Amino acid sequence: MKMTLEERYQKKFSTSKVWFDKGKSLFAGGITHQTRFTSPFPPYFERAMGAFKYDVDGNEIIDYVMGNGSLLMGHSPSEVTAAVNDQSSEGTHLGGASTHEIKYAEAVKRLMPSMERVRFTSSGTESTYLAIRLARAFTGKNKIVKFHEHFHGWHDYVTPQSGQSLGGIPKEVLGTVIVSPVDSARVEKILSEDNDIAAVIIESNGAHYGTFPLSNPTFLENLRLITAKHNVVFIMDEVITGFRLSAGGAQGRWDLEPDLTTVAKIVAGGQPGAAVGGRAEIMELMAFRDDEDWDTLGRVPQGGTYNAAPISAAAGIATLEAIATGKVNEKADTMANRLKDGLNDSFMKNEVMGHAHGISSIIHINMGLTCNCDRNLCSMPYEDIYRTMTPDKITGMRRAMLVNGVDMMGGRAFLVSSAHNEGIIDRTIDAFSESLNNLREDGVL
Ligand SMILES: Cc1ncc(COP(=O)(O)O)c(C=O)c1O
Ligand SMILES: [Zn+2]
Repeated sequence: MKMTLEERYQKKFSTSKVWFDKGKSLFAGGITHQTRFTSPFPPYFERAMGAFKYDVDGNEIIDYVMGNGSLLMGHSPSEVTAAVNDQSSEGTHLGGASTHEIKYAEAVKRLMPSMERVRFTSSGTESTYLAIRLARAFTGKNKIVKFHEHFHGWHDYVTPQSGQSLGGIPKEVLGTVIVSPVDSARVEKILSEDNDIAAVIIESNGAHYGTFPLSNPTFLENLRLITAKHNVVFIMDEVITGFRLSAGGAQGRWDLEPDLTTVAKIVAGGQPGAAVGGRAEIMELMAFRDDEDWDTLGRVPQGGTYNAAPISAAAGIATLEAIATGKVNEKADTMANRLKDGLNDSFMKNEVMGHAHGISSIIHINMGLTCNCDRNLCSMPYEDIYRTMTPDKITGMRRAMLVNGVDMMGGRAFLVSSAHNEGIIDRTIDAFSESLNNLREDGVL
């Protein structure tokens, strides 16, 4: 009898099971990030290079998770590795102001000029946390508006309605977060009726790295106008889109000027690191003023042992310099388009209802409904996306693709890098066709 996908998975990744069993007694839930689990256990990876990663069973896997979106140039690109290696023998923490932070901020500002002032942090979560704190201090207001499903990290203020649970979050905090449908008329209404709103924060390409796309640039342009009208700080979360949607991120692609921007992932070239930046008059609320009252009571505080740490700075600068040439994004986008076309062909040839869509180097799939969108910015309503991408389909697709040698982001997306080439993309499309067949045989499709 033919083996099921689960049986094939268990066999192909059998050594990973041993590692997962060890992990279960070390980590809560066996894993170190809430999305790293996949049923029945995750594959355990040991090393990576270019578009590939290698697991404990010796399997070569084509990677589209790409460091959760941080590796636009693929794994260990030579210029970034060289910069990291050079810095690691020159000091990994200089315990004070350093020339690295200046060069790093200049490299960021060069690509995102709306950042009149910059502050570095260690993660995207810290960046959105700091941006929200700055917005509160600037406006003297308390609440923030976020959108349904939009993910900005795991701190208290951005967790509601982000696809995460609410354990441990004070109800007082929940009371300061307004979750809006993705509808600019509703945002306008919320801002008109509530005078205590400090900021609107948005995932610039739509919830969950664009799984629920926005009708851009119109939606972002409308938000820019509405927030300006109501004196509310407009925070573009570019943790995913930063330096990917264009060398200048979503704001560069669509010529937008947010008040504050958060970036992470690509900005640190695969090392831990992130940043917040924006209008000088907001950012300068963090500066000391030689005024005791201000300095001890009014100033917006920020610490962070590893802010602009030399190795993250070195990796970030090397990455941003490569991106500034335009070649990295061009290659990744071209490969992503090839992938998108191939996936759409594959849906047709295999007579499976579904489609692939996406812009720049992020491609999403939907299975189970037809859609007449332009295959760039999908116009499917939230309800249809929930209906099409059910947990069994997402888990099934991730498992099937792993069995066929490909790791997708969450079983529903591909984060393409400049290390992917035509041959690798074509292998991916074949694996996808095979996976559709496997899922049909298993009764998931
Ligand atoms: C849009 C967005 N904002 C914020 C974050 C949080 O970043 P980090 O995981 O570095 O804390 C993420 C992480 O995936 C993200 O996608
Ligand atoms: Zn669509």
